[in-house]
Amino acid sequence: MRAADPALEAALSSTKIAIRDVGKVFSGKNGDVEALSRINLDVRDGEFLCLLGPSGCGKTTLLRTIAQLERPSSGTIKIRHDDPARQLSAVVFQDYSVFPWKTVRDNVMFPLVQAGVRRREARAQADHWLEMLDLGGFENAYPDKVSGGMKQRVAIARALAVQPEILLMDEPLAALDAQLRLLLQEKLLQLWQDNQNTVVFVTHSIDEALLLSDRIAVMTKRPGEIGTVFDVPFERPRDPDKIRAAPEFAVLREEIWHILRREIQEGGEA
Ligand SMILES: Nc1ncnc2c1ncn2[C@@H]1O[C@H](COP(=O)(O)OP(=O)(O)O)[C@@H](O)[C@H]1O
Ligand SMILES: [Mg+2]
Repeated sequence: MRAADPALEAALSSTKIAIRDVGKVFSGKNGDVEALSRINLDVRDGEFLCLLGPSGCGKTTLLRTIAQLERPSSGTIKIRHDDPARQLSAVVFQDYSVFPWKTVRDNVMFPLVQAGVRRREARAQADHWLEMLDLGGFENAYPDKVSGGMKQRVAIARALAVQPEILLMDEPLAALDAQLRLLLQEKLLQLWQDNQNTVVFVTHSIDEALLLSDRIAVMTKRPGEIGTVFDVPFERPRDPDKIRAAPEFAVLREEIWHILRREIQEGGEA
């Protein structure tokens, strides 16, 4: 038997999601749309990774493929599921995907009860996460009666409550006004620092990506590939005001924008 290569072993053991040559083609009445082309990316265990890219480059498709809501047309995605008792992944979509006919608390309890948690325990856990997202007092409200920002916090609480090994978020803050968005970014930063799940987070905002993530993968225009991957060097725990004021923040923002702008100008969909 060959001796194991310790470097390779270490590299493999720190990889949570291994994406190899993943392509995705949607076939429809008007022909084929190639959404993804040869995506290669390793997401590390416990890493917060942001995906940036022009509209229509395949960010949502990639996230849905990782969530196993779509099947790749080619290539493979391997995800390490460490604890079979724990849900592998949870997704937060862009458009407030909460059940309007359930109360705020019932929305958060739902996946827990589905997973077999007893109602009393599920209720306690739901209330804990609602408290974490400053939704204490709104447990019995119906989502249609609360603001967009609150609905999105319900969706985030629901995803966090199951304590998934991987959290997948598709522009979760995009529909919020600027101030609320900053507040929720800071909340997410704090919650992630306390919990350290592996996160793949799609955003249009370079500032948001720099504040939250460990690495930023910039995708090319459709069919999307992983273009440049940036390391985000800020130490944790991060102080949002200090990060935003750091000279490195401005330098990285400029560098990333330079690359993103080129992709958008070369014919992204927006
Ligand atoms: N279910 C689908 N059927 C056909 N085409 C799709 C489908 N989903 C996405 N697409 C197309 O795939 C491309 C990538 O879409 P998407 O992943 O939503 O991009 P992004 O999230 O980066 O804006 C787009 O051209 C889009 O129209
Ligand atoms: Mg999208």
